Amino acid sequence: MNKTLKLIKKLNTTHSLTTDEYQYLIDNKNEKASQLLKKYAVAQREKYYGKSVFVRGLIEISNYCKNDCYYCGIRKSNLNCERYRLSKDEILSCCKEGYELGFRTFVLQGGEDATFTDNFLCDLVSSIKENHPDCAVTLSLGERSYDSFKKLYDSGADRYLLRHETASDEHYALLHPDTLTLKNRKKCLNDLKEIGFQVGCGFMVGSPFQTTSHIAQDLNFIEEFSPHMCGVGPFIPHKDTPFKNYNAGDAELCCYLLSIIRLIKPNILLPATTALGTVKNDGREKGILSGANVIMPNLSPLSVRKKYALYDGKISTGDESAQSLYNLKKSMNSIGYTVVVSRGDINTNIKE
Ligand code: 5AD
Repeated sequence: MNKTLKLIKKLNTTHSLTTDEYQYLIDNKNEKASQLLKKYAVAQREKYYGKSVFVRGLIEISNYCKNDCYYCGIRKSNLNCERYRLSKDEILSCCKEGYELGFRTFVLQGGEDATFTDNFLCDLVSSIKENHPDCAVTLSLGERSYDSFKKLYDSGADRYLLRHETASDEHYALLHPDTLTLKNRKKCLNDLKEIGFQVGCGFMVGSPFQTTSHIAQDLNFIEEFSPHMCGVGPFIPHKDTPFKNYNAGDAELCCYLLSIIRLIKPNILLPATTALGTVKNDGREKGILSGANVIMPNLSPLSVRKKYALYDGKISTGDESAQSLYNLKKSMNSIGYTVVVSRGDINTNIKE
């Protein structure tokens, strides 16, 4: 048996490889390897989640951002970005609509908007939990202090998404201005975990200057940090950023990595991202068939959807939430999966 297939079998039983071995798997990606990875990944996912797909209602609460990440469409230097910020009432009504549609997790995502003080956010989170005590609240609002994370947790937030973006300091510096560091990112991730959040890290596939060695370091970081969730989607250029002329990441490589991540942590909550559905028509379905088990449909008001453009061409910016959920349920059914009404917490027990 060749080395690639041997490594895949090893990963499936030990859930661990060295960074060099991860790199070998990526450098030697081929059809046979993809098929085997997919088969193992789907089997591992099924042990914990069966054929269920968890959905999260994504509410994009603000596109103001104090940061200037070179890849991101809502970076502060983008003067073409029409800025908006949702009010508390608007956010609560998105949750109400989402609840009626069957969502039991709300993800509040936004740029690093200084007007989101701890007081505002804590009041918002506790109101959502009061209105919908059976729902989980996930925050995705960037880097904050330990104290701020702690207050948010104490106000009732359950989960926090903060992609590490790249596990290489040198690559991190090529994607961000020097006000942002991987060191602080990692500190935030560790703080979140220590406080008690279910935590998600993640990275973009095919971001500018990314090498297979960088991706291998990402996989090693994921193995070591052992997050509850992991967001991995292709980089997609945005026309008003310094990276406008770079190519989008490859959907197949993204699916290959989703399978590997499933084998690293069999019960991880792993989304088939909107970015994957944007670079490839049936990208999200392919993601699920590669081992993902989460989808994050957009619940933001239609009037702001186009303004929250991290990258160009984002899908379902024009569909009513109800319509896009209906379409999603149908397409999941067509590949043998079922969207369930559930908070969708991480499952630590193998299903009977
Ligand atoms: N392409 C793909 N993903 C992007 N993100 C930001 N900009 C882009 C882009 N151009 C991702 C980042 C961030 C998450 C919210 O969106 O990884 O953490």
